[in-house]
Amino acid sequence: MKVLIATEKPFSAKAVQGIKGILEDAGHEVLELEKYTSAEELRKAAADVNALIVRSDIVDKELIAAAPGLKIVVRAGAGYDNIDLAAATAAGIVVENTPGQNANAVAELVIGMAIMAARNKFSGSTGFEISRKRLGLQAFGQVSRHVASIAKGFGMEIMAIDPFCSPEVFEEHGVAAADSLQKLYSENDIVSIHIPATPQTVGSIGRELISLMPKGAVLINTARKEVVNEAELEQVLEERPDLKYFADVKPSNAATLEEKFADRVFFTPKKSGAQTAEANLNAGLAAARQIVAFFATGDTTFRVNK
Ligand code: 3PG
Repeated sequence: MKVLIATEKPFSAKAVQGIKGILEDAGHEVLELEKYTSAEELRKAAADVNALIVRSDIVDKELIAAAPGLKIVVRAGAGYDNIDLAAATAAGIVVENTPGQNANAVAELVIGMAIMAARNKFSGSTGFEISRKRLGLQAFGQVSRHVASIAKGFGMEIMAIDPFCSPEVFEEHGVAAADSLQKLYSENDIVSIHIPATPQTVGSIGRELISLMPKGAVLINTARKEVVNEAELEQVLEERPDLKYFADVKPSNAATLEEKFADRVFFTPKKSGAQTAEANLNAGLAAARQIVAFFATGDTTFRVNK
């Protein structure tokens, strides 16, 4: 089978080598398209492939229509809002992700951002220590659980909310369960967002929640920019000169926010949460193994478009 690794933001060379090794050993042919600059380039490269490995690359209905031999798309990572699942399902294509494989990398960035915010972007002005502060985690999936485990090392008090987790899960991880988003936002010094972008969550974090945050609080977003209502975020930052917003996902109004609130906002120039050698390797190799298993035995354990 022909497998295309299509990454606008490339994996490390070692990860690419590892992915190719697994696929070629299983008899597949591997093609690569890195740092491409247009959807057309991607469509051309995918025209005669049977499998696709992507990161945040857009897999829309046009791409699916342009790749009639495509049987499986593996998103080497967690979030799959970049893939048109309905179009894939309609075309009989299996879509999978590689849950957990890049979670530690993102979690380390969350803690890094918390410290960067607490230390006023290392400006030299007096900051605060995250030790013994209260941390709120919105959703309690793989990334959140890694954040909680690292944060415990700092002696942070941790609270989480997740409608898909039973009380036992929070208990097992030594994290308090919040019974409402209002509680999560009003009772934590640092809140870290970990919800996926879905029709239900897009724009769901706005003034109503952010303005509940205690004095000097920090909101961290390493999930998806779309879940925050950007106009309302700007409004709250205006009303509350004590709040900070640090994100790995540049908001659409980043330039305005940086100009107005330079000391209180920070945005990575390119999504960096999963951009470590380890995460590239973990997610990339998992994707390759999943493709091998799919063609060998029909395994679809990590399918997300059921
Ligand atoms: C994910 O959903 O796995 C992360 O957001 C990482 O995305 P990336 O592979 O584009 O860096």
